[in-house]
Amino acid sequence: MALRSQIIGCGAYLPERVVTNAELAERLETSDEWIVQRTGIRQRHVAAPGELTSDLASHAARRALEEAGLKGAEIDLIVLATATPDNTFPATATKVQARLGMTQGCAFDVQAVCTGFIYALATADNFIRCGQARRALVIGAETFSRILDWGDRGTCVLFGDGAGALVLDARRDEGGAARERGLLSTHLHSDGAQYDVLYVDGGPSSTGSCGFLRMQGKEVFRQAVHRLAEVVDETLVANRLAAKDIDWLVPHQANLRIIDSMGRKLGLPPEKVVITIDRHANTSAASVPLALAEAARDGRIKPGQLVLMEAMGGGLTWGAALARW
Ligand code: UT7
Repeated sequence: MALRSQIIGCGAYLPERVVTNAELAERLETSDEWIVQRTGIRQRHVAAPGELTSDLASHAARRALEEAGLKGAEIDLIVLATATPDNTFPATATKVQARLGMTQGCAFDVQAVCTGFIYALATADNFIRCGQARRALVIGAETFSRILDWGDRGTCVLFGDGAGALVLDARRDEGGAARERGLLSTHLHSDGAQYDVLYVDGGPSSTGSCGFLRMQGKEVFRQAVHRLAEVVDETLVANRLAAKDIDWLVPHQANLRIIDSMGRKLGLPPEKVVITIDRHANTSAASVPLALAEAARDGRIKPGQLVLMEAMGGGLTWGAALARW
């Protein structure tokens, strides 16, 4: 009988320090009004000096494991999505593996920038479906504050640090497909011809240094609205569903105007869309699991409900995942 991935735990972590728009306006030519109007962002969390992506990821993973009632030793796969690893190598996932006391299976990173969590989820789900893993931790963790040019007001006001994690458990598919809980489908895309609309101007093979994030904001915005609508459509068609069947849209949190446009396209009322961008800003691969963890913890997302996730980021990459919670 076929296997599927059920979500049995969810956790998140945000660094303590909060940087408000007003604080940024003290050192940059910007304003709370501009940032709120153009993006919906009011504040972001920023990692403390010495607080690394692996630290944020480990905190989120422990919380997800606690909710699942599992120990690290019971996990046999970690897929960690990040564009801000602790070091060029080894994978940040292996550091998290050691911290959690996981001694079996494997741990590795995937890199699809803001779409990273959807890529990681798809990867782990495929490992589970083919029987190569039984219990997986899927983590999105970022310290984008370390790759921002803090003199560039066009990008530095947009991002924040954080981490979120899900625990997936292999379950036998008992038939009656759609009523089963778990991941129903994942859909991934990339277009490398759009490499330079959103990239980091450094790296081990090019400059030997880490580099800073560069973005053609308007072009990314345009592509996001278009690509996200396409992949959401693809997901609904693949599952023979209509937008009205979706209980929750959990979008990547890059810009409130992009999120609103997606909600409108789907005809979803704002109360069915999970928004965290006002408090977290864009946390790249962490944004979807942070939003999931918040809405699951406060009781909005309930077992059995249909949750549609989508994201788009550098590459360009974009994707969506549909789960019955
Ligand atoms: O997560 C990965 C995916 N990323 C995204 O989806 C981001 C997509 N893009 C965006 O969200 C938007 O394009 C931005 C929020 C980045 C920018 O908004 P925009 O409405 O496209 O503004 P703009 O870049 O066209 O800039 C408009 C004006 C410019 O001034 P002039 O040339 O009109 O005089 C900018 O210099 O706003 C200026 N500006 C700012 N002003 C105050 C740019 N950044 C700021 C700022 N504060 N922080």
